[in-house]
Amino acid sequence: MEIITTKSAMQQRSSQLKRSGKSIGFVPTMGYLHNGHLKLVHHAKQDNEITVMSIFVNPLQFGAGEDFDTYPRDHERDKRLAEKNGVDILFLPDREEMYQSELSLDLKVVKRANILCGRSRPGHFDGVATVLVKLFNIILPDSVYFGMKDAQQVAVVDSLISHFDFPITLVPVETDREEDGLARSSRNVYLSKEEREQAPAIFKAIKTGELAIVEGEQNPSSVVKLVEEYINKNTDGVIDYVEVLSFPELTPLNRLQGKIIIAAAVKFSKARLIDNIIIDQI
Ligand code: PAJ
Repeated sequence: MEIITTKSAMQQRSSQLKRSGKSIGFVPTMGYLHNGHLKLVHHAKQDNEITVMSIFVNPLQFGAGEDFDTYPRDHERDKRLAEKNGVDILFLPDREEMYQSELSLDLKVVKRANILCGRSRPGHFDGVATVLVKLFNIILPDSVYFGMKDAQQVAVVDSLISHFDFPITLVPVETDREEDGLARSSRNVYLSKEEREQAPAIFKAIKTGELAIVEGEQNPSSVVKLVEEYINKNTDGVIDYVEVLSFPELTPLNRLQGKIIIAAAVKFSKARLIDNIIIDQI
C-alpha cells in the first residue's frame, strides 16, 4: 500500500493513474477504522482497479464544544487494516497540508442540510462539503463510496456532485451493524457498558416504526411517536430527533408514500448516536 501525505503528490499520482486508463474508487474517512469503513473498501475494490482511502479528521465539520480534539485516532492500526483489506493508496494529509491558508471562500449547503443532524450541528455539512470538494479534486475519483449510516451525508453528497458537475458516481453502501443491530461507529467507544447494552434499542425503535408503516400506518407523526416511545422506554439516552421524511430530498411528508427515511439521533453521556432506515414504498 502506498501512503501519500501531500496534496500535490496525491493529485499527480491520480492524474498518472487516469492517464493509464485506471478507474479510481475513493473511500473518504476520518479513520479509527471499523467494519463499516471496510465494507466501503470492499465495494470500491469490486468496482474499480484502484482503491484510494483518505483518513483526515476534518476540523471544519466539528462545531465548538464537539469532539474534534478527542475524536479517536490510531493511524498505525488504521494503516494495518487498510493494507490488509486491499486499499492501494492511503491519503493521509495533516491539518496544515489540507488547509494551508485561511479560507477564502465559504461553502454553504442550503438544501438537505438544515434538518436532522444539521439542525443540532449547524455548519456541519458546510464543513463536510468543503473537505469533499477538496478531496474530489485531489483524488480525481470515478466513483465514491459513502455509508447509508450517514444517510443525510449521502443526500448532501448527491447534491454536491450534481451542483458542481463532478464526473463522479456516488455509490451508497448499506449500514454495517454489530450482531445485536447497533450500527458500527467510531464513536461507539465512548459508550459506557450500560449505554452499550441499551444502544441497540435505537435500531429496534426505528424497526418498530418501519413495521407500522409496512402494516399500513399513513401518518408520519404517529410513526415518530412510536419510535420515540420505544427509545424512551428502553434507553436512558436523550432524543435529539426522530423524523420521518422523504429521501433523498429530506422534506416533511403529509402522507407516507414514495421513498422515505425514518431517522433518529440519541444523546448518551459521551456519545451522540444516529441511525436510520430507508423504506421504498411503491
Ligand atoms: P467517517 O465517520 O469516518 O465515515 C466514513 C464513511 O464510512 C462514511 O461514508 C460513513 O457513512 C461510513 N460509515 C460509517 N459507519 C458505517 C457503518 N456502520 N456502515 C457503513 N458505512 C459506515 O463520514 C465521515 O467520516 C466524514 O464526514 C467524511 C465523509 C470523511 C468527510 O470528512
